[in-house]
Amino acid sequence: MEWWKQTSIYQIYPWSFQDSNGDGIGDLQGILGRLDQIRDLGVETIWFSPFYRSPGEDFGYDISDYTAIDPRFGTMEDCDKLIKEIHKRKMRVVLDMVMNHTSDKHPWFLESKSSKENPKRDFYIWRKGNGKKPNNWISMVGTSGWNYDKTTDEYFYSNFLSFQPDLNYRNPNVKKAMFGVLDFWLKKGVDGFRLDIFNSIYKDESFRDNPSSLRYFPTPDNHDEAFFQKKTYNLNLPESFQFAKEVRKHISKYKQKPFLIGEVSGSDQVLKSFLGEKADGLNLVFQFELIHFDYHAKFFKDLLEKNEKEFQAPFTPTYVLGNHDQRRYIDRLGGDIRKAKVLSAFQFLARGVPIVYYGEEIGRKEGRISNFLGKDPIAKMNRFVPLFLSNLLGIYINRDNCRLPMLWDTVENAGFSKGNPWLPIGKVKDTDTVSDQRKKEDSLWNHYKSLFQLRKGSAVLKEGAVRTKDTNKSDLLCFERVLGANGITVYLNFGEKESSEPIIKGSKVLYKFGGAAVVGDVFQLPPHSGLVLETKLKK
Ligand code: GLC
Ligand code: CA
Repeated sequence: MEWWKQTSIYQIYPWSFQDSNGDGIGDLQGILGRLDQIRDLGVETIWFSPFYRSPGEDFGYDISDYTAIDPRFGTMEDCDKLIKEIHKRKMRVVLDMVMNHTSDKHPWFLESKSSKENPKRDFYIWRKGNGKKPNNWISMVGTSGWNYDKTTDEYFYSNFLSFQPDLNYRNPNVKKAMFGVLDFWLKKGVDGFRLDIFNSIYKDESFRDNPSSLRYFPTPDNHDEAFFQKKTYNLNLPESFQFAKEVRKHISKYKQKPFLIGEVSGSDQVLKSFLGEKADGLNLVFQFELIHFDYHAKFFKDLLEKNEKEFQAPFTPTYVLGNHDQRRYIDRLGGDIRKAKVLSAFQFLARGVPIVYYGEEIGRKEGRISNFLGKDPIAKMNRFVPLFLSNLLGIYINRDNCRLPMLWDTVENAGFSKGNPWLPIGKVKDTDTVSDQRKKEDSLWNHYKSLFQLRKGSAVLKEGAVRTKDTNKSDLLCFERVLGANGITVYLNFGEKESSEPIIKGSKVLYKFGGAAVVGDVFQLPPHSGLVLETKLKK
């Protein structure tokens, strides 16, 4: 089975991981100094949010040079060293690739906007307006996607923020340039790319108006109908599905067998279109269902069954609890570490690739920075919306709050920086930091470590099919992982009451948490506990 189907991914947001030079911003040297800690946790693949040269208006998702390192993070030598040191520790590297758009300070765009005759004009999407916007397309952030530029009296299109002009993939030279960028990094040995808003790559060739919709707010797993519009002509175009295959084919020739994981959204049908009917498109896509989990056994049972049906082998589901755009899941659990253990156990024991956002392993909490004071461009756009209102509506406006610095130690600034951190550290209790949690056997960090290790050492967990089991107890989730004659049975108690189940003869406890135990001839499962058992399967 291909390595990327079996891996686990850990996302690092470079701004917030570790500062090495006291300027308050995380950097590559800082990350280098923490690699042993990441390896100790058991991580197999590290995905880095962008550290390319960028004005930083969207904190790196606005790139002005795809083959240079931004000086705030370090140098190309640092980056080469980082790749080497990660590989030395038997881990892999995934870079974030923002193909959909560049920064408006990218030399391509500066040239493109300078005149209609410029050879780079057609690198971006330009349209005449005759005094009004070329069509009704709304961007993913809820504003018109069209931006007027007076130099040539035309509009350019941006499906995210206005300083992120969309590239025009109908121009073969754009494709060529972007494949060149991929080659640059693949030759350096990177093992894959996370493709930013890949659902947005192509736009309708004839610029038809989008139909209207009754829905206003998008959700993490559905942008296709939002802001009273069906995004028929500016998201999820068939050409984008086709392009997924082209990129896959292009990268496949590299010996490290790199992979692509796409940030796309929509129905399972849409996700499958990106993966390709013959599993020949993007290798993986983010599946965001867990972002808005409902902490009940039934929700997780349904999700397992759905993924087993819709994304059966050769497809591999992914399980995401958070990222740099979403509320941290620990806050959605009211800070309850017991529940965090159940949820993360589910994420690691299901069939698929678990994706962990830095800090989840210590239950790092969010900030409460108002939209008004936000550095995030989305917060700036909505600065007069009070935080309680956006929270009430369940929309995430100030993404600063999920990007606070990592908590390493109970020293100044939690060991993140000797200077003034770019975002506040927030409150740090003794048990919040990595170093404290490493010392405590029943900490969340050690639970994550056990999960990473358990999965790493088990072909059944990496490859085995999933069979859910009925327990007749609404709070108790039970499922089996099956590979040949080998099985692993998982019990997770989502309830406030203790549950007990008759023991399975001949089974062996592989892992337990939350006080779960074998007592006489029953498995005892206290509230929010879990048990993982090796079982021999009946024929
Ligand atoms: C993706 C990124 C987000 C960024 C946006 C524009 O959604 O995850 O952080 O702002 O794309 O690149
Ligand atoms: Ca720094």
